[in-house]
Order: sequence, then C-alpha cells, then structure tokens
Amino acid sequence: MLAYRHAFHAGNHADVLKHLVLMRVLQHMNGKDKPYRFVDTHAGAGGYSLEGRYAQKKGEFELGVARLWERDDLPPALSEYVALVRQFNPEGAFEQYPGSPALARMLMRPTDQMRLFELHPTDHRILEAYLGAAKGAEVMHGDGFDGLKGQLPPSSRRGAVLIDPSYEGHGDYARVIACLRDALQRFAEGVYMVWYPQVQKVEAAELPRRLEALAPKGWLHARLTVQKPDNKGFGLAGSGVFVINPPYTLHDTLAAELPYLVEVLGQYDGAGFVLDQRPA
Ligand SMILES: C[S@@+](CC[C@H](N)C(=O)[O-])C[C@H]1O[C@@H](n2cnc3c(N)ncnc32)[C@H](O)[C@@H]1O
Repeated sequence: MLAYRHAFHAGNHADVLKHLVLMRVLQHMNGKDKPYRFVDTHAGAGGYSLEGRYAQKKGEFELGVARLWERDDLPPALSEYVALVRQFNPEGAFEQYPGSPALARMLMRPTDQMRLFELHPTDHRILEAYLGAAKGAEVMHGDGFDGLKGQLPPSSRRGAVLIDPSYEGHGDYARVIACLRDALQRFAEGVYMVWYPQVQKVEAAELPRRLEALAPKGWLHARLTVQKPDNKGFGLAGSGVFVINPPYTLHDTLAAELPYLVEVLGQYDGAGFVLDQRPA
C-alpha cells in the first residue's frame, strides 16, 4: 500500500536541493552532442498544482521554492532553476511546480531519451497523460528499482539516473544500495543521483557512507538542513543528495549556492549544509 503522495511536498526545501542538482547534471549532459538517457526510478506525477488541495494542505512549498520566487539576488544556478519554475508557469502567477520529469523535459534535447517509472496508480495515470506521448519518453507503471536493470546500459553509453524513493517504512534504504550495486555493474560510467531524507533513523544516517563504498570512481554528497526535528525526534530536518560520478563542475556550483539556501530556507539557528566529495 503506497501512502506517500508527492503532491503534499512539491516545491519544499528537499525538492529545491534535489532539482537544483538534477538541473546541473542534465545541463552538463547537454554539453556533448551525443544523446543520453535519463531514468527517473520514482518519477511521481510529473508536475503539481500548488493550488490543489494536497499542496495547500501542508503548504510546504511556501517554506521552499516560494521563498526564492520573488528574490532578485539569487546566485546563478538558483536563478536558472527559478527561471525553469517560471517557464512551467507561463501565465505568470505561481500556480504549478515542475516535478523531476517536467524539469527534465524542459532541459533535455529531442534526441535524448527519458524513462520514467511510477508505482502509484493515480500518479502514474497523471504522468502518462502528461508525458506518455512525448517524443523520446516512455512512462512505465512499475517498480523503478527493478525496472532500472532493463534500462542500463543505454545504447549511447551516456546516461543519468535519479533515484528518489519515498522511504516509506525501512525497505527503501536497502533497495537503494542493492539497485545501485547492480546498476554500477551494468553501467559504471553513469551519473547516479540519490535523494535521501534527513530523519532520525539509523538507515538514513548510514546511507551516505554506504553509498561512498559503492563509488570508487568519485562521488559528491550535499546535505541541506533547514529545521529542527520535533521534540520526539520526528520530522524532516533536511535532506541530502548523493551523486555517483558527478560532473566535475557540480562541487563549485553547490559551494556557491548552498550558503544562500541556508540563509533563505533555514528555519532555525542550526540550519546549515554539508558539501563533500571524492573526485575521480
Ligand atoms: C519523492 S516522490 C518522487 C518525486 C519526483 N522524483 C520529483 O522529484 O518530482 C516518490 C515517488 O515514488 C513512487 N514510488 C514509491 N515506490 C516506488 C517504486 N518501488 N517504484 C516506482 N515508484 C515508486 C511514489 O508513489 C512517489 O510518487
């Protein structure tokens, strides 16, 4: 039973960090003419209405992307990210937030391939209606951890993968590791982005170290902490993105943008970031 619906969380601080990294990775892939394949193992619905009952219920976007929307002092990469969010709102008012498939769609070229997996029937139906007929895109109703195997290696030997599970229960942490171990055997040169929540669970705390061990050719780890967990230790304090085989420019980009995100999205004095890498 899947309880998680990304519409509640669309545009929150975690989406900002994840989508900033996704944008820079795809822009880097665009630097060469040769086409690539982008695989989103947990794609969600593709895009989200911020006026809908889900987004309004928790209003998480108001503490996330909405804090960037009106700023006129954005550093370069965040400025490009907000420009993409604006492109997704052609009427001018801030009504919709692009999920990872919509952002990828805006960034990718007609010759590139997009492979999207989504397990929730409703989100899959919305995603299929949005991108099912798009050139170069395939939308799959299925398990993205299992489905990734069939997508690697891409025929062009160029590819980027976003692994963005909902971490309901504990099983997803182990599945991330198993899925990546297999994926790296099939396609060692791929760029792999893993999002994870900063929550008080041993599995979440250990995940970056476990991912490092899988990535002998180089990795980058970025984490943005914005709020205090509640007094029982629950709640999303922040989130991290771990990138295997990152573009060499990613570290400098994030070093310039993360302090700004702490300042604008931080909700308490302990807000901060971690940025670490082992270059290839
Ligand atoms: C965090 S959301 C994805 C958000 C999306 N990547 C974005 O950035 O806009 C996680 C999604 O994974 C879906 N999901 C959960 N388990 C899955 C699985 N095993 N395979 C594919 N999708 C799954 C959920 O229904 C949910 O829509």
